Amino acid sequence: MSHNPTSKPVIAIVGAGPGIGEAVARRFISSGFIAALLARTEDKLQTMVQGITTDFGPGTSRYFLTDLRIESQVIASFERIRSELGPVSVLVYNAGARRVNGRSILDTSSEEFESFTKINLFGAFWATKCVLPDMLAAEKGTIIFTGATGSLRGSAGLSSFSPGKFGLRSLAQVVTREYQAKGIHCAHLVIDGPVDGKLIGGVTRRKWEREGEKQKLEEVERYIMQPAGLAGIYWFLYEQPRSTWTHELDVRAQKESMFSKL
Ligand SMILES: NC(=O)c1ccc[n+]([C@@H]2O[C@H](COP(=O)([O-])OP(=O)(O)OC[C@H]3O[C@@H](n4cnc5c(N)ncnc54)[C@H](OP(=O)(O)O)[C@@H]3O)[C@@H](O)[C@H]2O)c1
Repeated sequence: MSHNPTSKPVIAIVGAGPGIGEAVARRFISSGFIAALLARTEDKLQTMVQGITTDFGPGTSRYFLTDLRIESQVIASFERIRSELGPVSVLVYNAGARRVNGRSILDTSSEEFESFTKINLFGAFWATKCVLPDMLAAEKGTIIFTGATGSLRGSAGLSSFSPGKFGLRSLAQVVTREYQAKGIHCAHLVIDGPVDGKLIGGVTRRKWEREGEKQKLEEVERYIMQPAGLAGIYWFLYEQPRSTWTHELDVRAQKESMFSKL
């Protein structure tokens, strides 16, 4: 625990990028956690840790380079997290992979299907296996999986995305049935619409600019979910008392209409 001398509770953000991942890390760090950030791109992780350090002080986050498609890398990162920071109290599996513009099944390669499904589903299975032993020993722990509209509906063009996300939803139910009585709170959060992160947020804004949607650009938060708002939902799930645990929750922006079919 050389990098967590005051034994702060540890949150592992698996799939940590500048959108939901960083926002959730910041929310938990602001309440006393230390965050382990897992992703593949070192310069993005360095920038994230630097920003967090500036805002919250040194020793509040640490990154662990990991390709979630490779089980041995997932295991190695969680072993490092355990020895450098201590046991994980909260696991957020946030990685996801999809095409912005969908492709039919016939145009989707088997390699893409396998690669995306490993990110959307397999990585969550492996990460969960890594954290469960310590959580069970402590008789407490929180596991939150980030879902999407595609977790509930298979839409045309998303064959390499939705099956993995459906599977992730099912995995959350299995974790709950197997371990809830032993103190593990597992929740599946359905993010039902676009998030104002770099990729989808950027694409959405550019589309509005092209279409002259001035009002939408001025009131972005009514149309696309804000990462900081979502982070509050993860915190809400974490804080729930044992008498009232949510297993699944869905969220969308007030005027969202692009993905959501509710
Ligand atoms: N953005 C949206 O509009 C939206 C909408 C609905 C649901 N969601 C869900 O929200 C989650 C993502 O949140 P976000 O979009 O705000 O992203 P984010 O938190 O900004 O970033 C997620 C990070 O996951 C990492 N990742 C992807 N594949 C990985 C792999 N193989 N190994 C390790 N790390 C990997 C990526 O970093 P590297 O590339 O550096 O590895 C990426 O930066 C996903 O589960 C997605 O399905 C997003």
